[in-house]
Amino acid sequence: MTSVPAFVEQRRSIRAFTGAPVDRTVLDGLVEAACLAPAPHHSRPWRFVVVDTDGGKRDLADGMGERWRADLAADGVEPARVEELVRASHTKLTTAPALVLGCLTWEGLDRYPDETRQRAEWGMALLSLGAAVENLMLSAADAGLASCWVAAPIFCPEAARDALSLPREWLPHALVMLGHPSPAYVARVRPAVPLGELRAHR
Ligand SMILES: Cc1cc2nc3c(=O)[nH]c(=O)nc-3n(C[C@H](O)[C@H](O)[C@H](O)COP(=O)(O)O)c2cc1C
Repeated sequence: MTSVPAFVEQRRSIRAFTGAPVDRTVLDGLVEAACLAPAPHHSRPWRFVVVDTDGGKRDLADGMGERWRADLAADGVEPARVEELVRASHTKLTTAPALVLGCLTWEGLDRYPDETRQRAEWGMALLSLGAAVENLMLSAADAGLASCWVAAPIFCPEAARDALSLPREWLPHALVMLGHPSPAYVARVRPAVPLGELRAHR
């Protein structure tokens, strides 16, 4: 028998929100919680952009959408389906009460002359961004807020950066939608953790 702490179990990916905005001081608290995550070399190689204005959400959705449209077309997806997918994604992002965009920078990270270690260093930063995002989402759940990670920017960091006119060295890699959970939301059943398959002992 194992027991998972309730605060871990309670966080779910909730994609349906009421229209109520999220207070900026609350969003700042979530970003601060994110920034308490572990990171290599006592660095903080993250930058977080709170996108809670209609214009900001639209710019981000437009910029990433354009990139995705081109990728889907290059994959040979039918034009009508491309438009359907891009429009659904655009609506999802622009109707979320708030978005937090997690970016990575090289600040505080080590530089190596070889590609292998350079890539590993960036991978460490990416892992720490994941830890930061989990802190943010756990804190959101603790505050009674709904959150859901959106993968999109990792596929188009430059497009996301330029859509919001961010500094060149801020590279978006994670996006979280935030809001007050819709009362109509029903969590999908979470499959039990098959510990025997996912964990080994040596
Ligand atoms: C890196 C990452 C990317 C994700 N991208 C998306 C996404 O683009 N859209 C979405 O609806 N959910 C996304 N999710 C949420 C997962 O679908 C969700 O965490 C998973 O289904 C488990 O559900 P739970 O979070 O409620 O436990 C993402 C999660 C992670 C960690």
